[in-house]
Amino acid sequence: MDNASTVFPHKIHWESDGTSRIPFMAYTGADQHRKELERFFYRKHWCYVGLEAEIPNPGDFKRTVVGERSVIMVRDADGGINVVENVCAHRGMQFCRERHGNRKDSGFTCPYHQWNYSLQGDLQGVPFRRGVRQDGKVNGGMPADFKTAEHGLTRLRVAARGGVVFASFDPDIESLEDFMGPTILGYFDRLFNGRKLTILGYNRQRIPGNWKLMQENIKDPYHPGLLHTWFVTFGLWRADNKSELKMDAHHRHAAMISTRGASGKAGQVTQVSSFKESMQLNDPRFLDIMPEPWWGGPTAVMMTLFPSVILQQQVNSVSTRHIQPNGNGSFDFVWTHFGFEDDTGEMTQRRLRQANLFGPAGFVSADDGEVIELSQKGFEQKPYHRTLAELGGREVGDTDHMVTETLIRGMYEYWRREMED
Ligand SMILES: [Fe+2]
Repeated sequence: MDNASTVFPHKIHWESDGTSRIPFMAYTGADQHRKELERFFYRKHWCYVGLEAEIPNPGDFKRTVVGERSVIMVRDADGGINVVENVCAHRGMQFCRERHGNRKDSGFTCPYHQWNYSLQGDLQGVPFRRGVRQDGKVNGGMPADFKTAEHGLTRLRVAARGGVVFASFDPDIESLEDFMGPTILGYFDRLFNGRKLTILGYNRQRIPGNWKLMQENIKDPYHPGLLHTWFVTFGLWRADNKSELKMDAHHRHAAMISTRGASGKAGQVTQVSSFKESMQLNDPRFLDIMPEPWWGGPTAVMMTLFPSVILQQQVNSVSTRHIQPNGNGSFDFVWTHFGFEDDTGEMTQRRLRQANLFGPAGFVSADDGEVIELSQKGFEQKPYHRTLAELGGREVGDTDHMVTETLIRGMYEYWRREMED
């Protein structure tokens, strides 16, 4: 038996009405994954597509995804932002292959039969639409009642706030602000407070694990001081960090807010054996932290916007991390490191240096990719077992400490509500 989920019907059994014990089958099985895509990525949820700063000029575009559907975020001649599906109305081809580019003058042309679309996705050119005149008669062409207006690209709803762009296939979706809810919106606006963003660079990695594990990783304050020995060894993680965990009303989004402890020496308060007071970084500039006025207290806020994105502020390193599923057992994880237009050159260098902690080979984040892969392997080999997420009890609620898995329980409370028929 290589894969139990292909042999047995994929009926998930939960041990109770709660979510502190999560069945391994929540992470395995292609049918359920398709249901998740429908329920979370293709309706009722705003999905991250990018930053306005990635497409500053008319005609600039970025190819990305919503769930597993390829889309293009493009700025039109009037400066508006459009998101269209990367599927030609003619023969269904994913016509755009470049990640970034500019189509100000040409619009988008499918290479197969050169159907051409405007920057808003309107069909504007169909070769041989009126046929070919030959020997005094017209051969072929599209039917007389063919209307280009009926064959544009699929246009998604678009919402932008603070320079961050979200899109949805759902025409009836609530506002982005209602989607986030007031608590999470407050932390979103703290980071994206209207300053113009600048793009510093990208990391991309493919992680062989279920996409939800990435959400869970950033809803899990239990692991950083234990898994990430680099954090601990050099005193960046301390047990006297002041922390809060907050969720939206549905418990799908979350913020982990922490303020670095300042009392005494790190060595007296870490309570974790991997801290080494005598160990020093060869290049201390990796941890050369400069408080910024907009922080307003917290030194790190990690936000999960369900289902598609993580918004990171870890001291001076700020980034978005886009979750792009491909199948139930794999996702691409795309990091966009950014800064702010009013940053000094020195601050930009600091953000870039600190970005070394993150990304696929980051001093800290490399660990997360690996544990996600190994978790998925465990799930696949033992389909009727379940994980435990009982640290801090079995209930769900905001806390003023980090010794809890409440955010993971909260996410699965929402997941069960949306997924169980
Ligand atoms: Fe981590």
